[in-house]
Amino acid sequence: MRVLLAGGAGYIGAHTALALIEHGHEVLVVDDFSNSCIDSIQRVEALSGATVTVIENDLSNLEASRVALAGHDFDAVIHLAGLKAVGESTEQPIRYYRTNIDSTLNLLEIMRERAVTKLVFSSSATVYGTPELLPLREDHPVGNNITNPYGWSKAMNEQIIRDVQAAWPELGAVLLRYFNPVGAHPSGQIGEDPSGVPSNLMPYVAQVAIGRRERLSVFGNDYPTDDGTGVRDYIHVMDLAEGHVAALEHLRDGVTAYNLGTGRGSSVLDLVSAFEQAVGIAIPYEIVAARAGDVAEAVADPSLAHAELGWTATRSLADACRDSWAWQSSNPNGYGA
Ligand code: WQD
Repeated sequence: MRVLLAGGAGYIGAHTALALIEHGHEVLVVDDFSNSCIDSIQRVEALSGATVTVIENDLSNLEASRVALAGHDFDAVIHLAGLKAVGESTEQPIRYYRTNIDSTLNLLEIMRERAVTKLVFSSSATVYGTPELLPLREDHPVGNNITNPYGWSKAMNEQIIRDVQAAWPELGAVLLRYFNPVGAHPSGQIGEDPSGVPSNLMPYVAQVAIGRRERLSVFGNDYPTDDGTGVRDYIHVMDLAEGHVAALEHLRDGVTAYNLGTGRGSSVLDLVSAFEQAVGIAIPYEIVAARAGDVAEAVADPSLAHAELGWTATRSLADACRDSWAWQSSNPNGYGA
């Protein structure tokens, strides 16, 4: 298939581009490079030996997007374009809603105009809000006490896609609810390149290991979990990328949501020891106050994706730690440095 990969230069996008190419698909990336750079795509090309078409465009501008995409044919859209910093979304809600909602509306409008009927959307486990029952299944209620505009934008996008599909039955869409993506391509050539101080755990740990940060702050140790620190389902980004390929290849009528997770929960301290063991570098840390809006535990039940997409995560947390380090140690300052 010829796949339009919206947001394809970002962390998930570059790994997904590579997985698509490895499965014989052709990739056209559309990205505004507001939080990414062309280097990631150049490295995907070098790793795969394939050529990736790159269209620089802001998808939240409908007219500009029509023009930018004219003359490019594609059979399916994987939509990963959006802003994703939880804390920033509480400070800039208008920007987050405009970017994350308008880009989806515009893509859907252009898909309809051009009769492109396959959509894979990058959603998040954050749409479940505070988990009522673990592990999380796809039929868990959406919108249960979501604490930030980023999370709401994902839940709203899911609803928009459902409403558009109801009015346009030819559309087939998959909502992929990511748990916590970590790791990098094992080559260390592509990876996560956060701007400023990382807000996510794994990139922060990797920056402590390389000496860019002094120590990790562990946000709270009195959660009702085994060691008191927050528990998450960390999924290797290559597994996640392959989940997009499986979703695309099994796409059917209607809208279906799938969890992309491993089904295994790891605490903050579990991740720290996994990293120390995999990499052989001690990670100094201190316990500080819990972060506002964090939940104690979020772990996927990934069985639906296994049953219907034939997909399952195969890589371990140790693999993710080793690969994050391969990326961090060979690119201490990220891309272009
Ligand atoms: C994981 C655990 C923290 C940093 C968020 C978004 C989600 C998705 C991924 C994406 C928690 C603890 C973290 C640190 C720490 N968004 N932690 N010290 O919060 O599960 O999910 O990122 O684009 O929608 O909500 O991920 O990596 O921030 O935190 O102790 O410096 O690590 O409290 O228990 P989270 P995370």
